Amino acid sequence: MEVVICGSGEEIGRHVADVYEAVLRGPAPVIGLATGSSPLVAYQELIRRHREDGLSFAGATAFLLDEYVGLPLSHPESYAAVIRRELTDHVDIDPARVFSPDGTAADLAAECARYDAAIAAAGGVHVQLLGIGTDGHVGFNEPMSSLTSRTRPKTLTRQTREDNARFFDSVDEVPTHVLTQGLGTISSARHLVLVATGSAKAEAIAAAVEGPLSARCPASILQWHRHATVFVDEAAASRL
Ligand code: GLP
Repeated sequence: MEVVICGSGEEIGRHVADVYEAVLRGPAPVIGLATGSSPLVAYQELIRRHREDGLSFAGATAFLLDEYVGLPLSHPESYAAVIRRELTDHVDIDPARVFSPDGTAADLAAECARYDAAIAAAGGVHVQLLGIGTDGHVGFNEPMSSLTSRTRPKTLTRQTREDNARFFDSVDEVPTHVLTQGLGTISSARHLVLVATGSAKAEAIAAAVEGPLSARCPASILQWHRHATVFVDEAAASRL
């Protein structure tokens, strides 16, 4: 695992955009996208490169990490809507090639199996962007998630619902259940890129990078991945 301590969020955004640009310039790129606030600077930098440098997403396929259960795709906080608003509506990717688990499916287990199969059929993900929860979760794999899990329904912890309440009117509106790529699914990506800023993430980053490889900190799966990069600012690195 490579850990890069950066001077600012903008610097992290440029590094992540460099990694994504290299993949996008290659054949049949398959990119893994994440929601949350951490990836936003990278998305803004990718949009800028699309507009100003002609970086094209035309041949790309994209897979999201996770989705809330029960929010219609039209809900502004569904992750499918968030990723359109923050990235894919602003670049030349084919909207039909942007995939996310459907949290409104009647049979959620079947939907998860279908999603994993779609990732495999695309040839797997070249680069997967990850944020990290304050409890060390990645995607929505909360502590004690199986390290080999595939895409599946999960229950959110109270802490994660409180962390994400800022996107809703109140914590009671945050869905209790989600669909998330499993830790095994995420680990199948060729390159994992985790980004974190701010002191609220410092403990989770220390556990992920220097703690034991353990389901107690799902982000510690980066330790056994053959190509993982962690971009953090000084505050997020302060417990290392
Ligand atoms: C949510 C998402 C995660 C994300 C996390 C941290 O729980 N499912 O993928 O990493 O939030 O979000 P933020 O970057 O806003 O702190």
